Amino acid sequence: MSFRLQPTPVARPNRCQLFGPGSNVKLFEKMAASAADVVNLDLEDSVAPTDKDAARANVIKAISDVDWGTKTVSVRINGLDTPYWYRDVVDLMEHAGERLDQIMIPKVGCAADIYAVDALVSAIEAAKGRSKRVSFEVIIESAAGIAHVEEIAASSDRLQAMSLGAADFAASMGMQTTGIGGTQENYYMERNGVQHWSDPWHWAQAAIVAACRTHGVLPVDGPFGDFSDDEGFRAQARRSATLGMVGKWAIHPKQIALANEVFTPSDEQVAEAREILAAMETAKANSEGATVYKGRLVDIASIKQAEVIVRQSEMIAGG
Ligand code: COA
Ligand code: MG
Repeated sequence: MSFRLQPTPVARPNRCQLFGPGSNVKLFEKMAASAADVVNLDLEDSVAPTDKDAARANVIKAISDVDWGTKTVSVRINGLDTPYWYRDVVDLMEHAGERLDQIMIPKVGCAADIYAVDALVSAIEAAKGRSKRVSFEVIIESAAGIAHVEEIAASSDRLQAMSLGAADFAASMGMQTTGIGGTQENYYMERNGVQHWSDPWHWAQAAIVAACRTHGVLPVDGPFGDFSDDEGFRAQARRSATLGMVGKWAIHPKQIALANEVFTPSDEQVAEAREILAAMETAKANSEGATVYKGRLVDIASIKQAEVIVRQSEMIAGG
C-alpha cells in the first residue's frame, strides 16, 4: 500500500452533463431549466465551421444572461489541432462573465495539451483580474489520449473531470463501428451456437477510472448516440457506474432522467450501506475486523465501499 492517500475529487454532483450546440440559442434556457447537474455549451463538433464565430458570441452572452441556477456551466472549446481553439479561450476568458465554471478540452493526447491551455487561461485570468478560477474537464477520445491517460489525469490542478468520448475514440482506434457507445454487434463470444455480447469500451473506461481515482479527478462516461434506445442507455450507464464512473452525458433531454436514475444511489443502496457501517461499528466495539452481514463477509474494505455510496447520496441531497 502506498503511503500516499488517494485524493478526493471535487464535491459536486456530476450525474448528467447535458450538451447543446453553441449555435442553437433556443436550447440554452431549456438546458438551464433541465435536471442535469452540468451543462456543456458546445463550440466544437456540433457547430459547423461557418458558425464558429457566432456560436462563440452566443455562448459568451448566454453565460451572463441565462439563469443557470446551481449547475456547473462548462464550455467545450475546439481541439488544439484546429485554428479555432485559441480564440475560444481568449474570448471566453476576456469576455465571459464570472458564471463560467469550466472549460472542456476535447481530443487531448498528452499532458502538454492541458499545459498549453492552462498557460493561456492563467495569464488572462491574472490580466483581467478574474476572481473565479476556471476549472478544466477533458475528453479522452483518441489512441494517444488513452495511451497517456495517467499523465493527462495528473496534468493540472484545474482538472476536475475526464470523459470517454466513444465515437472519436472508436475512429482513432480504427474500431469497426459507427455506433456512439453501447453494445456492438460484432463484439461477442460464441459457445455452442449462442452469442454472448462483451463490452468493447470496458478497457478504456477502466483505464480512465484508474487514472482519475489516482489523481482526484471525476471519471465520466460520454455520449450514447441512439437516443431512441432507453434500455441501451441504461445498460451502458449501469456498466459505467459499476466500474466507478460518476455520471454520463446526455445529447438529448430524454437521457437526463436515465442518467440521474442510474448515478443516484437508490434508497435501498443507501440504507444497506448505512447498515453495513453500523454492523462494522458493532464489530469494532467487539474488537473484530470483520463480521457477517446478510450472510456475507464485510470487513474494513466494506466500510470504504459503503462510505462512497453514503457520501454520494449526501452530496446529491445537498447539491
Ligand atoms: N438541450 C435542451 N433541450 C433540447 C436539447 C438539448 N440538447 N435537444 C433538444 N431539446 C428540446 C427541443 O428543443 C424540443 O423542445 P420543445 O419540446 O420545446 O420543442 C425537445 O427537446 C424535443 O427535441 P427533439 O425534437 O426530440 O430533438 P431535436 O430534433 O430538436 O434535436 C438533436 C435533436 C440531437 C439535434 C439535439 O438534441 C441536439 O442538438 N443535441 C445536442 C448535440 C450536441 O451538443 N452534441 C455534442 C456532444 S456529442
Ligand atoms: Mg468528440
